[in-house]
Amino acid sequence: MSENFYSPVDTDATESERAAEAALRPKALSEFVGQSQVRQQLSLVVEAALGRGQAPDHVLLSGPPGLGKTTLAMIIANEVNSSLRLTSGPTLQRPGDLAAVLSSLNEGDVLFIDEIHRLARTGEEMLYLAMEDFRVDVMVGKGPGATSIPLPLPRFTVVGATTRAGLLPAPLRDRFGFTAHLDYYTEDELAKIVSRSAIKLDAELRPDAAREIASRSRGTPRVANRLLRRVQDWAEINNKGILDLDSARAALDLFEVDRLGLDRLDRAVLEAVCVRFGGGPVGLTTLSMTVGEEPETVETVAEPYLVREGFLVRGPRGRMATRMAFEHLGLDMPQGQDTLFN
Ligand SMILES: Nc1ncnc2c1ncn2[C@@H]1O[C@H](COP(=O)(O)OP(=O)(O)OP(=O)(O)O)[C@@H](O)[C@H]1O
Ligand SMILES: [Mg+2]
Repeated sequence: MSENFYSPVDTDATESERAAEAALRPKALSEFVGQSQVRQQLSLVVEAALGRGQAPDHVLLSGPPGLGKTTLAMIIANEVNSSLRLTSGPTLQRPGDLAAVLSSLNEGDVLFIDEIHRLARTGEEMLYLAMEDFRVDVMVGKGPGATSIPLPLPRFTVVGATTRAGLLPAPLRDRFGFTAHLDYYTEDELAKIVSRSAIKLDAELRPDAAREIASRSRGTPRVANRLLRRVQDWAEINNKGILDLDSARAALDLFEVDRLGLDRLDRAVLEAVCVRFGGGPVGLTTLSMTVGEEPETVETVAEPYLVREGFLVRGPRGRMATRMAFEHLGLDMPQGQDTLFN
């Protein structure tokens, strides 16, 4: 179960997990908790677009998995009363795939491209042109006689989402009117999110249990909502459906989410760096092999949170564990390891 919690692209999340997630998505900007700067920016873009009666500027959403990128894309389309077309970088591998999507757009549509950093090279170029000039060049014929015919497109809005903004080529990044960077949520915000979700799930969630879930959700609403459902399961069976502090603690311990919200993968990464590699430095590839995960999963799912919370440092020679990491695992830091940080 815990392996599925932070799937970066959600490919291994079950149908029911996805349906449960969809049911909890806020539908309006006013229901979206936290990220106040991003909310203000988006509400300005949306209002201006509505005022002008024109599709809003293209928006890039970046940030770690589960912080609300897809949710915001849906909200943008809702707020400007447009239809949302969903696609993703990996599904647009051949140039014809993107051309087909682009040429079927209607005036004002919002085109959501998830994992836009995984778009094929030819697709990137076609997308620049479409975003800037609202035009797509369609190739007709083959070989030396082939010609390209420009096809004008209606005004539309691209909302791109990426967990790896750094991988986007600069020309593509520059075509976006602005980039909204989503950051991890505070405990207060997460407590508010799970409390609202509990109402939608018809669950009786006590405030101290909401805080407990929030404090163990590694700053991520998706994790908070999933933990809430596990606590709800536990409470239904063991506590007459009352989600109090004891139920929350018991359920979260059962699912191996520790006091600081670190899950199985986070702990495996820390343990590998601290024990196997004596605190580091260790390179990403070696580290990923040791914990048996793809480098992309370690880099986008586990590391950003571990770095932000001060368990891990990324240096030119690789990843190093901090004193906090050793302490959290109940280990002594090897002699001389702390001088590596100076
Ligand atoms: N600010 C928020 N307020 C309330 N709920 C939120 C918020 N952000 C995210 N959520 C909830 O968290 C879940 C995950 O959000 P979402 O799917 O938008 O993440 P994502 O950034 O697209 O993740 P990924 O990178 O894996 O695609 C959704 O069910 C959504 O309801
Ligand atoms: Mg998403």
